[in-house]
Amino acid sequence: MPASSARAGSPNDLEAFWMPFTPNRAFKAAPRMIVGADGLDYIASDGRRIIDGTSGLWCCNAGHNRAPIVEAIRKQAGELDYAPPFQFGHPKAFAAASRIAALAPGDLNHVFFANSGSEAVDTALKIALAYQNITGNGTRTRLIGRERGYHGVGFGGISVGGIVGNRKLYGGLLTGVDHLPTTYNREQQAFTKGEPDWGAHLADELERIVGLHDASTIAAVIVEPMAGSTGVLPSPKGYLQRLRAICDKYGILLIFDEVITGFGRLGTAFAAERYGVQPDILTFAKAVNSGTVPMGGAIVRAPVFEAFMRGPELAVELPHGYTYSGHPLAAAAALATLDLYRDEGLFERARAIEPTFADAVMSLRGLPGILDIRTIGLAAGIDLEPRPGAAGRRAYEVMVAAYEAGAMVRVTADTIALAPPLIVDEAAIGRLTGIVANAIRTVG
Ligand SMILES: Cc1ncc(COP(=O)(O)O)c(C=O)c1O
Repeated sequence: MPASSARAGSPNDLEAFWMPFTPNRAFKAAPRMIVGADGLDYIASDGRRIIDGTSGLWCCNAGHNRAPIVEAIRKQAGELDYAPPFQFGHPKAFAAASRIAALAPGDLNHVFFANSGSEAVDTALKIALAYQNITGNGTRTRLIGRERGYHGVGFGGISVGGIVGNRKLYGGLLTGVDHLPTTYNREQQAFTKGEPDWGAHLADELERIVGLHDASTIAAVIVEPMAGSTGVLPSPKGYLQRLRAICDKYGILLIFDEVITGFGRLGTAFAAERYGVQPDILTFAKAVNSGTVPMGGAIVRAPVFEAFMRGPELAVELPHGYTYSGHPLAAAAALATLDLYRDEGLFERARAIEPTFADAVMSLRGLPGILDIRTIGLAAGIDLEPRPGAAGRRAYEVMVAAYEAGAMVRVTADTIALAPPLIVDEAAIGRLTGIVANAIRTVG
């Protein structure tokens, strides 16, 4: 029998699962296996409690295995497992959409459901293009993203995204895409808590891009209000306001990708609220149901939605959608999660504890090899000096050392990201940052 089929019969076989964004061989040689969760902690396969310093993958904002959410999913599974969202509906998808829209600012009040952040982004980009098309602006086909932006892994998302490693293997991508420069500048912004003072003028690069391509060719601009996956890069003060003003001047739609910032990460329901800037389309996913069941979506302003609600009544207004758009389990989980966020005041709690979190993370300044620390809301990025000729190795070693010492942190390149669940308290913040500090010292 070939070795591979022998392995396939083994319950402990790790071969078949091709893990995403993971060095598969290194993981499988020394797996970090999670078998349970409870509140702020994960439970590892060896029984250890691991404090969750990253809300899973920026998604479990309510903490883990919260009883009301678990119960809602259980109940829904026994009541209605699945209903098609094309031509049919079920009540909880409508209820969840209303609740999500009610949290979004202004007239962002129509929700198109997808199942992930990547699908949410592709949905938003397609709505933007279709909107320009049906409103007589069919020449507006360009999409503008930003360097160091992360918008998931669909072809739309990687095209407007600005992380080279996620783009370079996949051919020509979407045509007609351009990018704003990143808002990050270490010399000007190092060790800032909250929004950096420097960098609003970088929004004016959109004027340059309009000058190059002409506004009549540009459909939409997409940015994260706080770039999370690329290492926690908050928008500089005034930047988003300036971007909004330039978009208005030229009839360009503004999309905020709030897949990470949505549902309390920055101390408000959406970052749009924190900054007082309303985009035309806002994407969400992850924390909408605290990461329990895949769900994402795009929230669309009334005038954009209404532009589609014309024409023959039996015509499908937007030929787009997913088998699992508004899935009953995801919708039930979202309703229970949004109740919990409201009843426990978790967005306000995040806002209140932001200074404590910022001080604790900033106290790591001065440890070996730290080049910068950024904090905003309940998110922080810690840049380590790369080892010569081995980019990413140092942060990877810190992640492994932290896990062995009882904390889950996330790394991208040589940046460590922290984003604990919104139920975190001062003692847990101390526990988390203490483990991270020791890991940085140990790794050296
Ligand atoms: C801003 C942003 N957009 C999109 C995505 C993609 O989400 P998903 O992994 O659910 O496809 C992410 C994931 O981290 C994200 O941070």
